[in-house]
Amino acid sequence: MLFGGKDSIGLDIGSSYIKTVKLKEAKGNYELELFNIYPLPPELIVDGSIIDSLRLVDSLKDMIKQANIKTKNAVISISGHSSVIIKRISLPEMSEEELSESIKFEAEQYVPFDIEDVILDFQIIGPKEEPGQMDVILVAVKKDIINEYISVVKEAGFNPIIVDIDSFALENMYGINYEIEPGKNVALLNIGASIINLSILKGGISVFTRDSSLGSNLHSEALQREFNISYENAEKLKRGEPVENVSPEDANSVIEAASEEILSEIVRSFDYYRSTTLHEDISEAILSGGCALLKNMPAMIAERAGIETKIVEPFRNIKIPKKFDASYIHEMAPILAVSVGLALRKQGDR
Ligand SMILES: Nc1ncnc2c1ncn2[C@@H]1O[C@H](COP(=O)(O)OP(=O)(O)OP(=O)(O)O)[C@@H](O)[C@H]1O
Ligand SMILES: [Mg+2]
Repeated sequence: MLFGGKDSIGLDIGSSYIKTVKLKEAKGNYELELFNIYPLPPELIVDGSIIDSLRLVDSLKDMIKQANIKTKNAVISISGHSSVIIKRISLPEMSEEELSESIKFEAEQYVPFDIEDVILDFQIIGPKEEPGQMDVILVAVKKDIINEYISVVKEAGFNPIIVDIDSFALENMYGINYEIEPGKNVALLNIGASIINLSILKGGISVFTRDSSLGSNLHSEALQREFNISYENAEKLKRGEPVENVSPEDANSVIEAASEEILSEIVRSFDYYRSTTLHEDISEAILSGGCALLKNMPAMIAERAGIETKIVEPFRNIKIPKKFDASYIHEMAPILAVSVGLALRKQGDR
C-alpha cells in the first residue's frame, strides 16, 4: 500500500457540528480517507462545556454508525476562554526538565483558576533577546472540562489518545498547507457557532492566541427574533435558502447587523496585538469555521480590520480521492479546518 493508514481520527466536537477527518500519510504526503459533518442539537454543548452528556454520547454513537467509522483512536480538542488559558510568558532560561518541576509555581500568577483545578502544559519557544530569559507557551486547561470530553468520547466507544486545543490544531493545519514566510504575521481566525479562536502566527510560530465566547449563534438568534422563525429555519437562511416568507436578501441585513459584535471583538483583538508588539503589521487573516461560509463574512472582516481576509484551504496539500465529492468538500472545508489539524496529530505528540 502506498499510503499507510493513520491509526487515529481527528474528532472536532463543536457545539453545532461534530466534524470527523481521517487521513492517510506516506512520506509527508496526505490523502483524505474519511470525513463527516454531523449536526448536533443546539443545547448539548454551551460555551465549550458539555451540558447533556447522555445525548452527546448518543449523537456520537449515531455518527459512528452513519459515517461507518471503524477507528477507535481519536484525537479530540477543546477551546473556549472559560476553560482554556494559553499565554506566551517569559521565564529565566532553564531546561525542559527543570520547567516541568516548577511549572505549577511559575504558572500560578498567569492562571485565573485554582492551580489545582487545571492541567498544565508548556512549550519552550526559545531564548529571548534579553540574555538569560526564554519564551514559553503556557497552556492551562480546566480538569473537569477535559474529563467531561474524555468520558463522553470513551462512552461512545472511542479511545481518546490526545486532547488538543482548537488553536493548536489550526496551526498544524496551516503548517502543512501554507508556505511560511519569515517575519510575516498571519492571523488564523476560526469562527464557529459559539466560540472565536484567534491565533496569530509570526513566521509560522504562534505568538498570540485568544478565544472569545461569540460566534454564529448570534446570527441565528437575531434571525429567529426578527422573523419569528425556528432555529432550523434560521440555519437555512444562513445557508442562503429562502424560508416561509423570508428571502435571503431580507436575512442578509439582519446577519450583517448581528455580525457587529463579532467584528468589533476581532478588531479589538488585532488592536491589542498591535499595541503589545510595537505596531506589527498583520498581513492577512485566514478564516475558518462555519462563519466563513456566510456570504459577506470575509469581506466584512477585511473592511473592518483593514486586513486581507481569505477563506482557509485545509485540503490544499491533501489529496482528495475520486470517490469523494470534491466540490462539496471544498465548499465545507472551512468547517473541517480544526478536524484536519487534529487528524494530523500522531500518538506520542504533545
Ligand atoms: N453554509 C453555511 N452558511 C452559513 N453558515 C453556516 C453554513 N453552514 C454552517 N453554518 C454555521 O456555522 C456554524 C457552525 O460552524 P462550526 O462547525 O465551525 O461551529 P462549531 O465548531 O460547531 O461551534 P463552536 O466550536 O463555536 O462551539 C453554525 O452556526 C452554522 O449555522
Ligand atoms: Mg468549533
